[in-house]
Amino acid sequence: MSSQTPPAVLPVASDPCWCGSGRKYKRCHKPLEGKVLPGVVSPMRTVPDSIGKPPYADTGEVPRTEEARVKSPEIIERMRYACDMAAEILKLAGDFVKPGMTTNDIDVFVHDETIKRGAYPSPLNYHHYPKSVCTSLNEVICHGIPDSTVVNDGDIINLDVTCYVNGVHGDTNATFFVGEVDEESKLLTLVAEECMWKGIEAVVPGRPISDVGKAIETHAKLHRMGVIRAFIGHGIGELFHSDIQVLHYYDSRNNMIMRPGMTFTVEPMISLGTWQHKMWDDDWTAVTADGKRTAQFEHTLLVTETGVEVLTAKGAVSPSAPWNRG
Ligand code: MF3
Ligand code: CO
Ligand code: CO
Repeated sequence: MSSQTPPAVLPVASDPCWCGSGRKYKRCHKPLEGKVLPGVVSPMRTVPDSIGKPPYADTGEVPRTEEARVKSPEIIERMRYACDMAAEILKLAGDFVKPGMTTNDIDVFVHDETIKRGAYPSPLNYHHYPKSVCTSLNEVICHGIPDSTVVNDGDIINLDVTCYVNGVHGDTNATFFVGEVDEESKLLTLVAEECMWKGIEAVVPGRPISDVGKAIETHAKLHRMGVIRAFIGHGIGELFHSDIQVLHYYDSRNNMIMRPGMTFTVEPMISLGTWQHKMWDDDWTAVTADGKRTAQFEHTLLVTETGVEVLTAKGAVSPSAPWNRG
């Protein structure tokens, strides 16, 4: 006899698996329980012709172009607008999440809120990414694709919103609680947000960008948590991802000097266990190698003459941040 669905009463770890494979339960289905599985992805949504589109919108191919690291005041003004919009939609999307809805429901919401404001949802068809937001649940590190997966009470979910408007992108993400969440997940989420702010506080003109990763890694280590290595912060502006690289752990080779007018993201992914990741067959969804939960926060930043401006913060910045002290 073999079975597809688990019984109401599960076996003891060392007993045979309920599925009839003949293997011990702990070596068969137990590791998969409560884990995120790929769902069904609905057809790609469309954007009205009246909305300005990035070069990849129709083809999914991202042209290999470069942009200046130091932005003109005019581009910065445009970025402020795109970043404000992304921040506003991220907040609305976080409030919208309820147990029982699907990650596709969140995509529909973000897509509609974005086009309502005359902007293009940057993820849509970026390197053929099929949806308008990234929804990353529990052990999904980043780039989770919205699908038929139901979000449940006790889950944590990262929503990553990017808006393209007036020719520039604004990129921000946050991790939200679905209903009542366990204490360990609450602490993980808190530490991930603190790590982001530690990284942001390390943005100082004239300093190497490795200061950012050093600050993040130090704080994660204090809490015995892992810093995911495969995904990094990036330059942003007219391109979604441009050539500035922001590692979230310390590496002396990440030594670009931060200069006023540079714009980039800080977006650490912090895990309860390993820093190592695995990739799903969809080539987008990254999960922790050990299946433990992970949380992330992201802001788009501008290096100023004296420090940093958080373009996606809409004034709601950390009370401990340097620009808010005395
Ligand atoms: N917003 C993500 C970031 O922070 C990138 C998403 S790319 C996508 O860099 F194609 F998955 F949307
Ligand atoms: Co993002
Ligand atoms: Co980003």
